[in-house]
Amino acid sequence: MGSSRRDLELRVDLTTGCNLRCVMCTLSLLPRSHRFECLSLEQIHRLARAFFHRARAVSWSWATEPLLSPDLVEAVAIAQSAGVPDISMITNAVLLRPSRSQALVEAGLNRLVVSIDGGSPETFKAIRDGASLEKVIENLLAFSEAAARVSTRPSVEVNTVVMRRNICELAAIVEIAGRIGADQHNLIRASDYGLRGMQDQSLEGLPPEHIESSLAEAVRSARQIGVRLMISPLLRSSSGARKRHRAAWLLHQFVRKSNRQGLGAALRLAWFQARHGRNRCASPYFNLQVRGNGDIVPCCEWSYDAPLAHVDDDLDGFLEGEARSGLQGSMEGRAPVRNSCRQCPVFSLPSVDTSPGASPGCRPPG
Ligand SMILES: C[S@@+](CC[C@H](N)C(=O)[O-])C[C@H]1O[C@@H](n2cnc3c(N)ncnc32)[C@H](O)[C@@H]1O
Ligand code: SF4
Ligand code: SF4
Repeated sequence: MGSSRRDLELRVDLTTGCNLRCVMCTLSLLPRSHRFECLSLEQIHRLARAFFHRARAVSWSWATEPLLSPDLVEAVAIAQSAGVPDISMITNAVLLRPSRSQALVEAGLNRLVVSIDGGSPETFKAIRDGASLEKVIENLLAFSEAAARVSTRPSVEVNTVVMRRNICELAAIVEIAGRIGADQHNLIRASDYGLRGMQDQSLEGLPPEHIESSLAEAVRSARQIGVRLMISPLLRSSSGARKRHRAAWLLHQFVRKSNRQGLGAALRLAWFQARHGRNRCASPYFNLQVRGNGDIVPCCEWSYDAPLAHVDDDLDGFLEGEARSGLQGSMEGRAPVRNSCRQCPVFSLPSVDTSPGASPGCRPPG
């Protein structure tokens, strides 16, 4: 302990499972009978003792569904009492009962990120495994009411994974974001893992004017309603358009990081990226990810190497230890590049957003 520097972004999956099987998600590969594990309260406390004094941000989910954990509210409270400034979670909100919303808000959740991929009940249901859009909206309205009752008023963000099935409904999803009181709406490009439900869903091959007019309609709708719309440059229809929008995106990343995590953290990351150039990844320096089975890895792309540690290991000294410094060395050319990094798009495309709340598009956990 000891250091007062808060420079870490932690993403902790409290479970290995999900109640849905969405078409674009690798969790859809899990059989319905999958018996998911959850981190225990003791393991959550171990993480808090080892890491939270250095955490700027903790997201209590990344690749799985946090509302399946019986200890979610307690986990938020633990992060809050450790003084973590940005405490969030990403959820499908199907199990977000009003009493749970109230408890989460009171425990200190700062930010709720909810995934909505359809502007009509039919599209939502088809993408999100039969889930009901009306029910999700009802849950989110109750969350917003609970949020309005506390002085800290947690913010709400909507994530939409854009694909052929929903590209014509973006403006309608923005309207839903407005209805539930969202501050921000993130449009994300789907990472296509060749899942059966994603065949023919790529935007590649769609007429560019079709993509751009759907995005423009969403922008108009967001302006009218007053929702901040963030469009991944990867959604743009041509490489010229991607380049034009990349600068705006990078500026937004900087402002977002500095709002949420302080100017120091934003400047450190910008300095890192300027110093190490395009093909170096910041995750080994600023990120840690904990899987629902307790494995500790640097990022959600870590699929071809052993975990750096497990939550039940002795974590004293882990942050400054060999596992992380060795990986940092591999980013700086002092050690061989790891297999996971070799296969990883982030290694060559550092403009991909890896901050909490952005899309992980992860491989299956565990
Ligand atoms: C994996 S989910 C886990 C959290 C929660 N279950 C949910 O759906 O919000 C986290 C985010 O990843 C997004 N996601 C899922 N599959 C994706 C894909 N193939 N490409 C990009 N993002 C994806 C989801 O829409 C969601 O916003
Ligand atoms: S996107 Fe979220 S809700 Fe859908 S299957 Fe994946 S983890 Fe579950
Ligand atoms: S390059 Fe990819 S796999 Fe390697 S640490 Fe960064 S995000 Fe993880």
